[in-house]
Amino acid sequence: MAEFKSKIKTIEWENTYTKMVDQTKFPDKFEYVNITTGQQMYDAIKTMIVRGAPAIGIAGADGVVLYAQELAKQDLTFEKFKEELIKKSDYLVTSRPTAVNLYWAVEKQKEIIKDCKSNKEDLIKKLCENAKKLELEDIEINKKIGDNGATVVPKGAAILTHCNAGALATVGYGTALGVVRSAYANDPTIHVFADETRPRQQGARITTLELVMDGIPVTLITDGMCSYFMKKGMIDMVVVGADRIAANGDAANKIGTYTVAIAAKYHNIPFYVAAPLSTIDTSIKSGDEIVIEERNHEEVTVINGKRICPEGVNIINPGFDVTPHELITGIITEKGIARPDYKKSIAELFE
Ligand code: MRU
Repeated sequence: MAEFKSKIKTIEWENTYTKMVDQTKFPDKFEYVNITTGQQMYDAIKTMIVRGAPAIGIAGADGVVLYAQELAKQDLTFEKFKEELIKKSDYLVTSRPTAVNLYWAVEKQKEIIKDCKSNKEDLIKKLCENAKKLELEDIEINKKIGDNGATVVPKGAAILTHCNAGALATVGYGTALGVVRSAYANDPTIHVFADETRPRQQGARITTLELVMDGIPVTLITDGMCSYFMKKGMIDMVVVGADRIAANGDAANKIGTYTVAIAAKYHNIPFYVAAPLSTIDTSIKSGDEIVIEERNHEEVTVINGKRICPEGVNIINPGFDVTPHELITGIITEKGIARPDYKKSIAELFE
């Protein structure tokens, strides 16, 4: 088995605050930042100091604890304390709308708040324990996703991925890059193609960084190049992460994923989505119901502090798109790989 050097832990609850990798500094610096208040956590999620669906889920769970610690310093009755904490939790979720993991983890904390009948100290302890539990479980879940996914990776495969669904998008190990890590551990002849992923360049700045740190061979390409390499027979499969998967298998992921899926279908290349069950939102029937985050227009107009287009041009900047389930070969989860018919196979994952 290959030994991975990086063992990155992206986000970690440290008794009273959260320590996280600051992902806005890549690739120049690999720095940690301490998040000590609920508002700081909201801002860290919104400004993408922490990003990636599972990682922002854990950030949300930690954020609820931070708010609880702050509210405990005010002179509130237990009932009023709980009421205010629920309001802060709901506010936290508005930091980013597309990834369901944030909502999922904060809802788990809200259930604890609602059920608690004892006192503030006991409630904070329970919230703290739950945040830590979700954090530790995330790595284990990713390893299972990785091992399940490795079973569909052909020997010596060239694997294309879009955005970053790696250790840095989760607590550690990653979902799509978890599949790569598990496959590489058994077969060091595999190779990754990483899409640059405009406008935030998660592929160029984060995926390549992780893989280089682990010694896994990676080639960086720009987003428009994928069909070129597919046509040349240089891509054997695609594995991406997801931010929200509907009950019918439609999967929201970083903008540009849909284009990759169409190109893969045209070239008859398997297209897999790797995600934990917490990314599957069975409350929505299809991807049409997924709210797509519209991001700051400067992400498109400015590169490295320099404006790249004239003033007066119109800009639209959706952060995500939805890949229709017809284009997805399989959804790799910790409980196995769901395949079409997704309505049936996804429902079975939750039995
Ligand atoms: O905007 P980001 O960087 O948070 O988007 C991340 C992605 O789209 C990932 O592919 C997705 O969250 C899955 S992470 C395991």
